[in-house]
Amino acid sequence: MGSRFRNATDECLAKIRVASDCFVERNRKRHRFSDCLAAPAGGAFARLTPQVAPNPSEVDPMSLKYETMNPLPQETRDKMVALLNGIMADILDNHYQSLLAHWNARGSNFIALHEFFDRYAGCNGADNWCDWVAERISQLGGTVNTTVQFIAANTSLKEYPMTITRGEDHVHALATSARTIIVRLRGAIAEALALQDNVTASILADVQRSAEQFLWLLEAHVVQPLRSPEPLA
Ligand SMILES: [Fe+2]
Repeated sequence: MGSRFRNATDECLAKIRVASDCFVERNRKRHRFSDCLAAPAGGAFARLTPQVAPNPSEVDPMSLKYETMNPLPQETRDKMVALLNGIMADILDNHYQSLLAHWNARGSNFIALHEFFDRYAGCNGADNWCDWVAERISQLGGTVNTTVQFIAANTSLKEYPMTITRGEDHVHALATSARTIIVRLRGAIAEALALQDNVTASILADVQRSAEQFLWLLEAHVVQPLRSPEPLA
């Protein structure tokens, strides 16, 4: 019994030793790989290191940017990154608004609207609008800055009303936000085209196309004509 236990223990220890050696070897390889990337003579990708990379505690995340072989001028990329972060603030605010509508709406057509708001939150959320815009920021060598604090300080949407209940009122609130986003997108697309960043313009046009489709879907849920949109600030 004792020797069987000892054998089993030895076997376990041997397995742990093999696994541990594998882990160390894997990490050694990983470190060698990253050393290559950082080495000055390590080829073209050695240049793709952060321009601002001292002690992380000293780095202002708002200014962290990366070198890239993207041929757009640095000045254009900086402007586009700032522009796109602002749009991200609107989109993420809108994403959370559609979740609030999904959770809080009540009324006779509850199920239809509850499910529709869920679908809207999927479209303006992590898999679609947000991801398209955020990845463009990264492509341009920028950093996605949209902390909750950044969103609160930079959104152009009105604060979502917390005193509404009926599904129709949530539809109206979300349609108002969609309109604000569309207006901002139109301006941003014009700015991107003026700076000859046709890819950013095209990505934003994709967001605008989807936003206008959802604006139609929102409006189609209400039987009565919508109230006039409130004037934009
Ligand atoms: Fe849900």
